Amino acid sequence: MILRNAWYVAAWSSEVQPEKLLSRTLLNVPVVLWRDTSGAVNAFEDRCCHRGAPLSSGRLEGDNLRCMYHGLLFDTSGRCVEIPGQDRIPPQAKVSTFPIVEKHKWIWIWMGDAELADVSKIPDTHWLDDPQWRSLEGYTYYTTSYLFIADNLLDLAHLPYVHPSTLGGDEAYAACVPQVQKLENGVRVTRWGEGINPAPFVQKIKNYPGKVDRWNIYDFLLPSIFLMDSGMQPVGNGAKEGNRVDAAEFRSTQALTPETENSTHYFFSQPHNFAIEDPKVTEAIHQEVVKAFQEDSDIIHAQDRMLKLAPDFKMISIGADAALSYFRWLVSNAYKAEQAAKNPVKVQEV
Ligand code: FES
Ligand SMILES: [Fe+2]
Repeated sequence: MILRNAWYVAAWSSEVQPEKLLSRTLLNVPVVLWRDTSGAVNAFEDRCCHRGAPLSSGRLEGDNLRCMYHGLLFDTSGRCVEIPGQDRIPPQAKVSTFPIVEKHKWIWIWMGDAELADVSKIPDTHWLDDPQWRSLEGYTYYTTSYLFIADNLLDLAHLPYVHPSTLGGDEAYAACVPQVQKLENGVRVTRWGEGINPAPFVQKIKNYPGKVDRWNIYDFLLPSIFLMDSGMQPVGNGAKEGNRVDAAEFRSTQALTPETENSTHYFFSQPHNFAIEDPKVTEAIHQEVVKAFQEDSDIIHAQDRMLKLAPDFKMISIGADAALSYFRWLVSNAYKAEQAAKNPVKVQEV
């Protein structure tokens, strides 16, 4: 169930280098990303309109891209501007292009109805390049549906069990019941753990002497964007009332982009606003998150293997599933609406 009328992250800005072609399948469509001479990113369907060769095997010639099978040349609008040995260029000699917005180190792509591409709908991820925050760029790849990863992110009761030595720690945190707020385009989850042990990945840097108050407050937005205010600080300083004192604060920023129904590109970053002058701290936080994301990947791929062996398996629901159940419902509704708009029921004329 892949939504098309939505902004997705196609790549980190740093992945699309001048004079290079980046090939990446997104939403079942092969895409080639490249920069023109102004530095702007272009996205073409990575399939030449002549006989289907990948344009990512082509050659950049200034602001044009040449297919290196029979030499057709395309401008930034995707229009063919040269066919070797032929003057007339048929109007259908054109490759599909996709709207692109590059913002805060992410390259966003719209692969649905281009008329609906509203730039104001791109969520705010300014922490990725805000000088008050520091982070490194993360990417990982799953051979599962993005929906299983969404399920995981929507229930952080898994932290102490899947991540005992990284993000998790105190099992008391799993028992803290989160508040789940339904949003029109996603879900907001607020989880507080008061007077619990600090998470190991923070303890390695902050070395708090005792218990902490810990929070994970996040929006998970359609189609699959995760934006979280999280952190911890010594217990009893009024964290819940908004007083952040000696806090280790993060703004985890994550985006899931389906490659296919059963594979997913996962872009992530863990901006922090303390010790920002020390790159070793940023590196240490990033490496802990990378380790933790491998733990998620292991359990989610293992779950996927179990479920593929039993297609009729019926899951049971528990209280902790509230946020993910609501998100799945939102995805399903949005998907049905997209399908209905694509195939409107024909009213018979009498
Ligand atoms: S397939 Fe591209 S020019 Fe022929
Ligand atoms: Fe996790």
